[in-house]
Amino acid sequence: MKKHQYLICSLAVVTALAGCQQESEDVAEKQQAAEAASTQVDTKEVVVSKVEQEEVRKAHNPIDDHTYGNLHEVDLKHLDLDLTVDFEAKSLKGYVDLSFDRLQDEVSELILDTRDINVSKVELNQNEQWVAGEFELAEKDEVMGSKLTIQLEDGVNKVRVYYATQPQASGLQWLTPEQTDGKKHPFMYSQAQAIHARSFVPVQDSPAVRITYNATIRTPKELLAVMSAHNEPDTELDGEYHFEMPQAIPTYLIAIGVGDLKFKAMSDRTGVYAEPAILDAAVAEFDDTEDMVKVTEDLYGPYRWGRYDLLILPPAFPYGGMENPRLSFITPTVIAGDKSLVNLIAHELAHSWSGNLVTNANWHDFWLNEGFTSYVENRIMEELFGRERALMEQSLAVQDLRQAVQDLPEEYTVLNVDLKGADPDDAFSTVPYTKGQMFLVWLEEKFGREVFDAFLVKYFDHFAFQSITTEQFKAYLKENLLNKHPDIVSEEEINTWIHEPMLPEMMPNPTSDAFNIVDAKTKQLLSGEITLAELGTKEWTVHEWLHFINNLPTNMSNDDMMAMDAEFKLTESTNNEIAHAWLLLSLRSGYEVVMPRLENYLISIGRRKLIVPLYKQLMETEQGAEFAKRVYKVARPGYHPLAQATLDEVVK
Ligand code: BES
Ligand code: ZN
Repeated sequence: MKKHQYLICSLAVVTALAGCQQESEDVAEKQQAAEAASTQVDTKEVVVSKVEQEEVRKAHNPIDDHTYGNLHEVDLKHLDLDLTVDFEAKSLKGYVDLSFDRLQDEVSELILDTRDINVSKVELNQNEQWVAGEFELAEKDEVMGSKLTIQLEDGVNKVRVYYATQPQASGLQWLTPEQTDGKKHPFMYSQAQAIHARSFVPVQDSPAVRITYNATIRTPKELLAVMSAHNEPDTELDGEYHFEMPQAIPTYLIAIGVGDLKFKAMSDRTGVYAEPAILDAAVAEFDDTEDMVKVTEDLYGPYRWGRYDLLILPPAFPYGGMENPRLSFITPTVIAGDKSLVNLIAHELAHSWSGNLVTNANWHDFWLNEGFTSYVENRIMEELFGRERALMEQSLAVQDLRQAVQDLPEEYTVLNVDLKGADPDDAFSTVPYTKGQMFLVWLEEKFGREVFDAFLVKYFDHFAFQSITTEQFKAYLKENLLNKHPDIVSEEEINTWIHEPMLPEMMPNPTSDAFNIVDAKTKQLLSGEITLAELGTKEWTVHEWLHFINNLPTNMSNDDMMAMDAEFKLTESTNNEIAHAWLLLSLRSGYEVVMPRLENYLISIGRRKLIVPLYKQLMETEQGAEFAKRVYKVARPGYHPLAQATLDEVVK
C-alpha cells in the first residue's frame, strides 16, 4: 500500500489547526444544540443556513486529509472551464476560472490540488481586469499529487489557471479508434472519483467542496462532448459545446465524455448516449430507467436534477457505473440482453439522492454514499422486479461480503473507515456497500418500513446539496429516529455497526426461497442423487446461476466440470457475470478448457471487479502466473490507468 508522504506538511499545519479543532468542536456543538432546540419546539424541517453549513465545512477540513486545499480559508463556488480536447497529444488544454469567497479576513493564498498537470500561467481577476499572478507547483506526492499555491492580492475573488493535462492523467482514459466499437473515431472520458478530478482540473479536490460549473469544450467536429451537466438531447455536431451545471456538486462529480456518440430518448427526461452500434441494444436493456426514476421519487422525494441520461462507455471503463449527475457513466458489460444486470442502473440512479444530493464529506465517510445507495438500489429493484429478485441480489451481495471480510485487513472492515493517509482507491471494497446496506436493512426491520422510509425522505431533504460526515449522520439519526421511537435501538448498537470491525452478530441474513431450492438441488447433484438434467435449470434466472456456480466446491473433477460445461455451455456464456463466476471456478478447480475464453475475456473487458479476481487467481499457480503475464502484456495498453495501477501490483 502507498503511504502518504505529506507527513511533514501535516505536522506543519497541526499547530495551526489546533485552534481550528477547538473551534470546530464548538461549531459542531452549536449546530447540534440548534437542531435539538428546533426539533423540540417544532417537528418541521430544520434548514441549516448557508452560514452554518460553511462553519461545519470549515470544521471538517482538518479531517479531509486527501486534499491540499485551504478549505478553511477559501470557499470555492464556481468553475468556468474552457478546454480543447487534443486527441493527438492526449491532452485537455485551456483554462479554468475559479471563483471563490474568502472565509477569513486575511487570506493570502489559494491552494489547489493537481496531479500530472502542466500549469503555464496564472492570472488574477482584479477590478474586472486579468493581471499576472504568482504560483508555485510543489513536487508530486504519489497519493495526493502536486499542491498548487497561488498568491492572492487584496480583493481578488477569481483566478484563472492556464493548463494542460498529461497523457497519463489518472482521471482520463484516451482510447484509439481501434479500442472503440466503431473503430473509426477516438474516445475520451473522465473518472474523477475518488481523487482524480485534480488530474484534469486544478481544484480543491474534496467532496466537502461544492461547486457549480460552466464549460466550453472544443473537440474534433465529428465528435460529441457530454458532461455531468445539462446535456441538450438534440445537440448538433459542431466541435464546440457549452454546458451549465447550476447545482452545487462535489468535485468528484465533474465529468466529461467525448466520442462518436448518438443519442436516443427513452422518455421525456431519460435517454442514452452511446456509440451507434450499441445504442439500440442499450436502449432496449435500460428502458426501465424512467420507471426507476418514478419509483425512487415515490419512495424518497423528487428527482432534483432535471434530466437523467446514461452514457455507455467502451468496455475498458474500470467500473460498473459512475453516478455523474444528470449523466451516469455505464459499462457496456451489463448489456446482457435480458435486463438481468440492470440493478447497476438502479444503483447509479439511487446516487441522485444518496451521494450526489447528500454527499460524504470525506472519504472516511464513503459508506454514507455507497451503503445508502446500495440500500436504495435494492428497494428500487424490489418495486420493479419483485421481492424475490431483491432478496436474491441481497443474498449474493452478502455472500460476497462474508468472503471479503475474511480477506481484508481488519481496519478496512469498519464502516467509518480510517484511511490513515492511504489512497482511497486502495481501501475500496464491498464493505461500505453491503455492510452499509445491511445496517440500513437492519434499521428498517427494527423500526418498520413505514417509519424508516419517512425518516429517509426527511434525511435526504434535510441535507440536500450538502456534504456531511458520519458524525452528522449519527446526530441526525439519534434525534429523528432513535429518540422519537425510544427503546428500539441503542446508541451502542449504532456505534457497533459504524465503528467496529467485521460483521456484527445482529446483521440480517437475507435468504431467498429460490436460492434454498438451488442449494437443495446442488446437494442432491453432488451426492449423485440427481443428474445434471434433473437440476431443473430451465427456469433459472441469472441470479440462480450465479448462486449455483459460486457455491460449488472448488475441487470439482475435470470430468464433472466438462460434463457441466457440455450440458450448460457455461464457458460460452454471454452473460459477463456468469462467465466471470464460471471462469473463476474453472481456475480454482484446474479446468483448463476455459483458457482461450479466459484470454479473450481478459483482453476485451477492463472492468476491475470482473478481471482483477481472475488475475489474482491465476497468480496462485506457476503456470497460471505465466499465462497471466502473457495475457496482461497484450491487455494492459487497453486498460484504464486505474486498472493498470491495480493490476501492476497483482501481475508481477
Ligand atoms: N461511485 C461508484 C464507483 C466508484 C467508487 C468509483 C469509488 C470510484 C471510487 C459507483 O456508484 C459504484 O458503486 N459502482 C458499482 C456498481 C455496483 C455496486 C452496482 C460498480 O462499479 O461496480
Ligand atoms: Zn455507488
